[in-house]
Order: sequence, then C-alpha cells, then structure tokens
Amino acid sequence: MATDVHGPVAPGAATAAPASAASAAVRVTGLTRSFDGRAVIDRLDLTLRAGEFTVLLGRSGCGKSTLLRVLAGLDREIEGEVLVPQRRAVAFQAPRLMPWKRVWRNVLLGLPGRPAREHAERALAEVGLEHRTDAWPKTLSGGEAQRASLARALVREPDLLLLDEPFGALDALTRIKAQQLVARLWQRRGCAVLLVTHDVDEAVLLADRVLVMDGGRIAYDTQVPLERPREVGDPGFAALRNRLLAELGVL
Ligand SMILES: Nc1ncnc2c1ncn2[C@@H]1O[C@H](COP(=O)(O)OP(=O)(O)OP(=O)(O)O)[C@@H](O)[C@H]1O
Ligand SMILES: [Mg+2]
Repeated sequence: MATDVHGPVAPGAATAAPASAASAAVRVTGLTRSFDGRAVIDRLDLTLRAGEFTVLLGRSGCGKSTLLRVLAGLDREIEGEVLVPQRRAVAFQAPRLMPWKRVWRNVLLGLPGRPAREHAERALAEVGLEHRTDAWPKTLSGGEAQRASLARALVREPDLLLLDEPFGALDALTRIKAQQLVARLWQRRGCAVLLVTHDVDEAVLLADRVLVMDGGRIAYDTQVPLERPREVGDPGFAALRNRLLAELGVL
C-alpha cells in the first residue's frame, strides 16, 4: 500500500513510507493541532490496521472532524507525524455535490486525468444509484445525495475511507439502509474505515473497534467482540453500549 507522510508543516510533504508501516493503514505519532494557541488535538497517537472498521466517538467539539481532516490531508498545519495511504477518500455529513454538474460528473470530480463515465456508473451501481446517473443533484433525495457522495469516495478505490457523520442528516429508516450499505461495501472492498458518529448503537453495530476521543487524545479504545450480524437486543451489545455511554460521560 503506497503511503503519504505528513510531517510538521512541510508543504507538500509526501515521501515514501518506512516498510515497517506496511500492515498499518494509518500511523499517527504525537499529533498536535492547535487553533489560536489552543491544542484541539494534543500529542495524539493512533494506529489503524489495514481493513479494519473503526468508529470514532466523542463529545461535540472534541476534535473528531479536525482529526479526519488531518488524515484526509486537507489540513497540514500540524505537529507530529501522520502516515496515511495515498489512496484515501472522505465523505462528510453534507454530501457536498456541485449543483451544476450531473451526478456522474460529481462522482468523478477531482480524479486525475479524464476518467471515463463507466467508472462513475460502476460506483453508482454499487450504491444502488445507477438510475440517477444523469440526474442533477438538486433532484436527489437526502439519502440519494448521501449515496452519491459515497460513490464519489468509492470511485477512488481507497485503502482508507474516512466518513464524518455520513448518516447524520438521514431519517431513521434511510439511515439503517445506509448503515447496511456501508457495511456491505466495507466487506466487499476490504479497506480500512474510520467513521465518526454520535450514535453509540451505530458504533456497536458496525465497528471492529471503537475509539472515544477526549482531551485531544484517544481516551478509550476497545475491540468489539460480537459476531456479525449484530442484534441490538443482545446482552453483549447492551453491555458495550453502556460502557461507551459511560466513557462519553452520559451514564
Ligand atoms: N478552522 C478552525 N478555526 C478555529 N477553530 C477551529 C477550526 N476548526 C475547528 N476548530 C475548533 O476545534 C474544536 C474541534 O472541532 P471539531 O470540528 O474537530 O469537533 P468535532 O469533534 O468534530 O465536533 P462535532 O461532533 O460537533 O462535529 C472546536 O472547538 C472548533 O471550534
Ligand atoms: Mg465534527
């Protein structure tokens, strides 16, 4: 897996990764990100394994989106070292589609070269949106727009998929479908996923591993020892949910 290294404020820093990093999709060492002298991320260490589905929880404003932006390479004003795959993609809570481009052109937006329409069609079929290939973004429902955004991430064939509250704006039923879709895509693609959510049930339902961020670091880190498919009513499910709620200071 080709990797990028983001170092301390080195413009365009992208060098070959040490071979020892090969089995990890992400390796973060001593990461600090400050705004106006306040460290939102404070000497954070984190390793994500290739192919693992990790969910990141944490109270509002604790720095989850900031961390995702750093991993995506969208924010390089950092201290510490960040090692991420070159093939990475990010989807945000709002689908961020360009209204003046048809859906398939949105899916290909930002890809290098002149990628063929077939690439977009394949990704749209994967998210069940092939019938909306030529649609304008404003004619999509919220769930469809979110799936188009997911197709835009998938077309990059990422080794690391970063999802920042991708289901936050969806109604309950659409949300369940979108969760199942992401689970299927992850199982098929085998990429590492880092999903940010506020929904503890969603975390336990989807994740191999759950992290809780607090005080600028990973304050809690647990594997999810439950078989798939998971049942919300399962005693193990409830126990982990309660533990995570306690870590979040809710219980
Ligand atoms: N560009 C910026 N300039 C100044 N402060 C910022 C900037 N981006 C983020 N922050 C601050 O950093 C802190 C963490 O923000 P971040 O968006 O990472 O939180 P979050 O954990 O994603 O929260 P939420 O769950 O509400 O989305 C907040 O206090 C926010 O105001
Ligand atoms: Mg956020």
